[in-house]
Amino acid sequence: MNLRSSIGGAAEYVTTTPEQLSLSPTTINLLHAAALPGVGATAIIALRRKTELKKGERLLVRGASGGVGSIAVQIGSMLGAHVTALASAKHLTFLQEIGADVVFDYSKTSPSELGEFDVIMDTVGTDLMYYRCLLTTKGRMVTIGFPSFASFSYIVASAVFGSRRVRAFSANPKTDLLKELAGYVDSGDVKPIIDSIYPLYDIAWAHRSLEAWRWAWEANHTNLKCTLTYSINSMRFYYYTNLLFITQK
Ligand SMILES: NC(=O)c1ccc[n+]([C@@H]2O[C@H](COP(=O)([O-])OP(=O)(O)OC[C@H]3O[C@@H](n4cnc5c(N)ncnc54)[C@H](OP(=O)(O)O)[C@@H]3O)[C@@H](O)[C@H]2O)c1
Repeated sequence: MNLRSSIGGAAEYVTTTPEQLSLSPTTINLLHAAALPGVGATAIIALRRKTELKKGERLLVRGASGGVGSIAVQIGSMLGAHVTALASAKHLTFLQEIGADVVFDYSKTSPSELGEFDVIMDTVGTDLMYYRCLLTTKGRMVTIGFPSFASFSYIVASAVFGSRRVRAFSANPKTDLLKELAGYVDSGDVKPIIDSIYPLYDIAWAHRSLEAWRWAWEANHTNLKCTLTYSINSMRFYYYTNLLFITQK
């Protein structure tokens, strides 16, 4: 499989270009490292490049228990920000363990109860107007989910109307960003969050799990999805990103 021209797939052998490769972190094995490039690079772009989060600033991570969100919580904490994490109740303890200062259950908390923020990292993509209102005057907001045309239109309109623009991007990171991510892992600031690991021959079952999880989320039967969440995150590496960590021989 050629990673560069492919939009997704799973294979034991792939070809790609050098700028999409980086050496793997030395403190974790490749299996765990494979869970990181897509979600980790996205979180770095959002917090370091797009919003330039600084020490002491107040950060809200919406979708904090997900693949990107859980790395964003760790990076926010590493940068010395005050991190508020918004997720479902079952994930709140875990989020405190990885660095969140304050946690809220999104099913019981309205945006108006969350306070003010210098930076908002949104991975959900809905209700953007309510969250944008929580920004301080110099606040910055970035979203990576585009669930509907309405959300997309709001992002575009925010660039024209009002001072606190909502930024969006599609991550296409290169070696330098992967190196930065590997450095955060080796310094102990970021760790991959993995629930379970599927062998390649179980890929069909992994897909079924993903579909069951999506159905559960959409139907709001949240008890079905929690054990699948992180395995799906780790698989996203194979599905959605063209990035690889490799080992040094
Ligand atoms: N633009 C880019 O470059 C880029 C890159 C990577 C990913 N993405 C997109 O970004 C989105 C997130 O990716 P991901 O890998 O982090 O997804 P994920 O692992 O599926 O996580 C999404 C999380 O959102 C949480 N959530 C759902 N509804 C919520 C709500 N109303 N309030 C707060 N949290 C809520 C869920 O938390 P609970 O489990 O606690 O309910 C879930 O863990 C996806 O749409 C993905 O396609 C974009």
